[in-house]
Amino acid sequence: MNPLPKHLEELFFSRSNTKLSFRKAEMKDAAWLLSLRNDPETRKQSISPEEIAPDKHHQWLKNTLNNPSRLLLIASMANEDLASFRLDQRPDGSIELSWTVAPKFRGKGIGSLLLTTVGAILPKQLELCACVLQGNPASLKLAQKAGLSLHRKEGKLIWLKREPSPFSNDA
Ligand SMILES: CC(C)(COP(=O)(O)OP(=O)(O)OC[C@H]1O[C@@H](n2cnc3c(N)ncnc32)[C@H](O)[C@@H]1OP(=O)(O)O)[C@@H](O)C(=O)NCCC(=O)NCCS
Repeated sequence: MNPLPKHLEELFFSRSNTKLSFRKAEMKDAAWLLSLRNDPETRKQSISPEEIAPDKHHQWLKNTLNNPSRLLLIASMANEDLASFRLDQRPDGSIELSWTVAPKFRGKGIGSLLLTTVGAILPKQLELCACVLQGNPASLKLAQKAGLSLHRKEGKLIWLKREPSPFSNDA
């Protein structure tokens, strides 16, 4: 698997807007990330809805942090962690985006702010994609806020895509 372009990390750390900042997830975030993953609504909207045991999650996080094709970020505001956000370099060259807002912050516009910010940060030359389960209208809207649009349906999966553009974000 190809690594993610290294400079992407820096784009997130240096260009966060004043409201939302990003940091790389660490092992100390394991319990918080697991609480997001095992939340019933997250599981309902997940392709793998089973509850995850702490030791399995621990191993997954360790592998994730050592995986050069993956970047797991935590978005926060005023030192409060609000959401997790993941980028995965895919073999076809596109970058897959996925996100979860912490349960107590849902329905307050955090997801919208997150995906609007991410869409502005990620260079327009990159091809982006995301996969949302049917019956998740909020996430469909969020993907569109990052500039992705409906691409194809595969059973219960809806794939969205942002085509690469030759123009830079600053153009
Ligand atoms: C889906 C999720 C990311 C949305 O984040 P959020 O912070 O609650 O979303 P926002 O408050 O910014 O709302 C986003 C948009 O969806 C709309 N929306 C929110 N909940 C909705 C619902 N149940 N049905 C329809 N629209 C909904 C909002 O009105 C808003 O639309 P607008 O911009 O036109 O006003 C969050 O609820 C979550 O993490 N859910 C569980 C896990 C999950 O679904 N992850 C994504 C997998 S792809």
